[in-house]
Amino acid sequence: MNESINAVLECRALAKSFDEGPEKLEVLNDLNLVIGPSERVAVVGSSGSGKTTLLQLLAGLDRPSSGEIRVCGHELATMKEAEQNELRNRHLGFVYQFHHLLPEFTALENVSMPLLLRKKTPIRQIRERAEQLLDAVGLGARAKHKPAELSGGERQRVAIARALVTEPDLVFMDEPTGNLDPNTAEKVHDLMASLSNEFKTSFVVVTHDMNLARQMDRVFRLDSGTLIIAS
Ligand SMILES: Nc1ncnc2c1ncn2[C@@H]1O[C@H](COP(=O)(O)OP(=O)(O)OP(=O)(O)O)[C@@H](O)[C@H]1O
Ligand SMILES: [Mg+2]
Repeated sequence: MNESINAVLECRALAKSFDEGPEKLEVLNDLNLVIGPSERVAVVGSSGSGKTTLLQLLAGLDRPSSGEIRVCGHELATMKEAEQNELRNRHLGFVYQFHHLLPEFTALENVSMPLLLRKKTPIRQIRERAEQLLDAVGLGARAKHKPAELSGGERQRVAIARALVTEPDLVFMDEPTGNLDPNTAEKVHDLMASLSNEFKTSFVVVTHDMNLARQMDRVFRLDSGTLIIAS
């Protein structure tokens, strides 16, 4: 059977380099990855190995130098920017390494934003869903605070709740538990597991947290521009 028939994410022969004047920095090189529904994959690797670059490419936030990326059956390179935005809003969630919360909005409003942008769910339902997710990451009591009034780990958890509020097919997380204590990190893991079970959500998680990595279905190490199986 062709393994890619049901793939949520497929990338083939992916390469990315950055031009730095006369020099070229090759970050990714002949990288291949196929992920199925509800599969959870961890990517580990040293600082500067290209983990964030990889996630940005897979989510269509940057363009590869060469290679092919298919997300939920759509080949990113053939899509217009508006189509990619639509794909991201309908199918993907992204937790950035540096949160990117909207400073003028409360935690609850930040988490609600992707559903508000979709314009498909009644406001009351959006609010309930956003509250549920904030509760799930242990932040129910901080829902009315703006990012500047939250701790680093609390902001990180708001970003996680925001990425999951749309029940996406595929979520990219860049160091989601970097600022969290083990108990809180476990809550994030439980939430991922329950979404995987309930909605078949797949995850690609970049992490230095081996506790979290070990709980995923597969662990890859990004090394010399390509992914090698770490477990
Ligand atoms: N826009 C850019 N222009 C030039 N070089 C870049 C650019 N973005 C990243 N790089 C370089 O590419 C390499 C990979 O960066 P990347 O951010 O993907 O690393 P990382 O594995 O996420 O590291 P960390 O664990 O520190 O977050 C680094 O050497 C970085 O300096
Ligand atoms: Mg990074």
